[in-house]
Amino acid sequence: MSMIVPLDSQPDAAIERVLDAAFGPDRHGRTAYAIRDGMSWLPELSFAALDEDGGLIGTLQSWPVALVLEDGARMPLIMVGPVAVLPDRQMGGHGRAMMDAVVATARARATEPLMMIGDPEYYGRFWGFGAGDTWGWDAPGPFEKRRLLALSVDGRSIGGTGMLGPRIAVSA
Ligand SMILES: CC(C)(COP(=O)(O)OP(=O)(O)OC[C@H]1O[C@@H](n2cnc3c(N)ncnc32)[C@H](O)[C@@H]1OP(=O)(O)O)[C@@H](O)C(=O)NCCC(=O)NCCS
Repeated sequence: MSMIVPLDSQPDAAIERVLDAAFGPDRHGRTAYAIRDGMSWLPELSFAALDEDGGLIGTLQSWPVALVLEDGARMPLIMVGPVAVLPDRQMGGHGRAMMDAVVATARARATEPLMMIGDPEYYGRFWGFGAGDTWGWDAPGPFEKRRLLALSVDGRSIGGTGMLGPRIAVSA
């Protein structure tokens, strides 16, 4: 069993090592990185999985993003991911434990809807993420429609047509 702790308890270099091991060093070109370009991850919705000795074996980060609708309005969203577990520790329940933590925390806080690019066979099966509400969404890079997933945590409807991007504060 892993222990789940806030990600900001872990050094940045250790987090980067887990991400490189899970995704490879060329991971920065992925569309998910472009969606949250320039944003910092949200400490209250980002988690680490530790082994019995306190070693870092998994990371999950969440980011403030938005869907810019056709009329220019912005629908705030929280992008979950990357979800990463060290290759030799995968399939041990660590990904599920980190995802359980972020979904439970988001529900408890009634946050903005969660979204991610990921496998529906995993994120749909365990937490109910689906691509049904994201068909009108575009992203600043290639992606598979079926892997663009969303989950409302407070019952609000999602949907909409627009372009995903970082949640840049617009000054009044
Ligand atoms: C995907 C990942 C986060 C899952 O975490 P994990 O700790 O290895 O997996 P868990 O132990 O929590 O879950 C295992 C279960 O989920 C299933 N599962 C895991 N990854 C899956 C996937 N990509 N698609 C479908 N099912 C998957 C397993 O078959 C297993 O099911 P079972 O319990 O019926 O046997 C992890 O394998 C990983 O880091 N992979 C490489 C990076 C990646 O692809 N990240 C996701 C994109 S953000």
